[in-house]
Amino acid sequence: MGFDPANNSEEEIGFGINRGLMYWEDENGKDKRIFYGVASRLYAVNAIDGGPINDFGTNGSIELKEGLDIPESQDGSLLLKTPGVIFKDMLILGMSLSEDADALPGHIRAFDVRTGKRKWIFHTIPQPGEFGYDSWEDKDAWKNIGGANNWTGMSLDEERGIVYVPTGTASPDFYGGIRKGSNLFANSIIALDASTGKYIWHYQVVHHDLWDRDLPAAPNLVSVNHKGKKIYALAQITKQGYVYLLDRTNGKPLFPIPEVPVPQAALPGEKPWPTQPIPTLPESFSRQKFGPEDVGNLSAEAHKELMERYVQIKNSAQFTPPSKEGNWIFPDFGGGGEWGGAAVDMETQILYVNSNEVPSTQIMLDAPQTDGTGITSGRSVYNKYCISCHGPDLKGSGTEYPSLENLNKKYTVQQVSGIIRQGRNRMPSFNYVTEGERNSLVAYLSKTENISKGQNTAVIPTKSKKSQIPYIMKGYDRFVDQDGYPGIKPPWGTLNAVDLNSGKLLWKVPLGEYSELIKRGFGVTGSRNYGGPVVTKGGLVFIAATPDEKIRAFDKHSGKMLWESKLPAAGFASPATYMINRKQFLVIACGGGKLGVKSGDSYVAFALPD
Ligand code: HEC
Repeated sequence: MGFDPANNSEEEIGFGINRGLMYWEDENGKDKRIFYGVASRLYAVNAIDGGPINDFGTNGSIELKEGLDIPESQDGSLLLKTPGVIFKDMLILGMSLSEDADALPGHIRAFDVRTGKRKWIFHTIPQPGEFGYDSWEDKDAWKNIGGANNWTGMSLDEERGIVYVPTGTASPDFYGGIRKGSNLFANSIIALDASTGKYIWHYQVVHHDLWDRDLPAAPNLVSVNHKGKKIYALAQITKQGYVYLLDRTNGKPLFPIPEVPVPQAALPGEKPWPTQPIPTLPESFSRQKFGPEDVGNLSAEAHKELMERYVQIKNSAQFTPPSKEGNWIFPDFGGGGEWGGAAVDMETQILYVNSNEVPSTQIMLDAPQTDGTGITSGRSVYNKYCISCHGPDLKGSGTEYPSLENLNKKYTVQQVSGIIRQGRNRMPSFNYVTEGERNSLVAYLSKTENISKGQNTAVIPTKSKKSQIPYIMKGYDRFVDQDGYPGIKPPWGTLNAVDLNSGKLLWKVPLGEYSELIKRGFGVTGSRNYGGPVVTKGGLVFIAATPDEKIRAFDKHSGKMLWESKLPAAGFASPATYMINRKQFLVIACGGGKLGVKSGDSYVAFALPD
């Protein structure tokens, strides 16, 4: 028996990423509930029999697009992919949104676990009179700008009743000319009173972000030994590869974090922030520089070809504003640190974190102009919504974003339309795209468009915020050689140990391997990896995360690999450990399905022999 939300809804339901569930039970353990998101709805399911909890919201679910305190005209994609936290009888939730100009604001809300009623809301894009409102030059930003959302999950200090919420970039990701200012509370850790949603403190990690440096994981709550004093702290990993170590009672950095001046030359209309906060310690767990000496050289030919492309991108300083000439994003858009997050050994205050060390280019193009009539073809709709991932030539990029060429050989028009409406896996849903736009887009992609006869045209509303965006990014272009290997010298993926007491990087080992490169004598190069580690009292760090479909154990003191096992599909998830009858188990979800490897649908558990 399973709960199927489709049985319980009259609407069409889109499925996508689901990163976990929330569980609650009442004091006497009779009422047991599971909460999870499907598209933009939060469902409450009876944990005992799998049935809907009918007195929660409307027939067991609530629509999260409602109750956001925004003008009715504002609409955009909203997906609940990641669980929030449960505090007393409340669910505290974030959400995933569009990263484009049409994004909804990422306000944080708490709902009653019994009824689904909203208990409080914190405006991550502050409204008039609220603290942080002045960080936006445009006084109407709160009505127009979205993002600053929590898509990663959050951390709860149950004892103090404080929830720590990491947020993403304000939208759109790569052009800030319509959102001038430092953009609070985007790219921030926000400490909120978990009972009331009242602001306690915040720390902004990137000001006026132009590089999609969302905070990618929930922070680790730790107690560290700082210069002889015990401090209740919070360690926030970032895509940039820094750890922000803050006193969690007041948000103050434990090690100095100076505001460092950053390059200012920018696209006309843009207004970059003059400085960014760069931690002196802890030491970063990703390389920070991608110089000519770092360009990959698996063979002389590969090196030559990479060098020819490398020299075309002149800007390699971190936080260089986006431009038409282009700049390096390193570690690339996915991080550095990513959604799997870090594990901390409570005995030693050592943080274990995996990292991707692959560069991407960021190149801006003029946004395609619609003609004065507002009439446009499927191609312009494509440019508006799809080009950033599927590329200007429809070819996609690498293993992550599939090519959309010859779609008509693979899917019917209805199927393409369905994928656009519902999204799929890492592709967001575009259910807010008007029917006219969608039809002309599908026609374009299915090669049935006949522009000369003026058919399949759609009207793009001219009041659209999109029409104010003068630039779009060319694509998420990873820098890879002709064989698809990263265009930088290895390691391409690493596991790192960072001492939170001293701030020192204790060790760094490659994570992930390619058998063909080992055969060619390159050793363990590391690979891109998604999914975090766990650390055990017994002295081991377990992590899967790699496209070689393995799970490994490392000695937590030395970083030496002690054990590995092949999984049925790649474990792009964090393992969990649990104990039954004094026997300890380790379990990992093996979903695969990205970085070019097969999909799977199993959980695998390990234990020591009796
Ligand atoms: C944020 C990045 C992103 C954007 C924007 C995006 N897509 Fe995708 N798209 C993806 C990813 C990732 C996949 C692969 C999904 C999967 O794993 O099944 C995909 C898959 C697809 C597929 C299925 C391809 C196949 O071969 O199975 C179609 C069709 C598609 N996208 C169309 C579109 C259209 C049309 C748009 C614009 C409305 C769009 N996408 C915008 C990321 C994106």
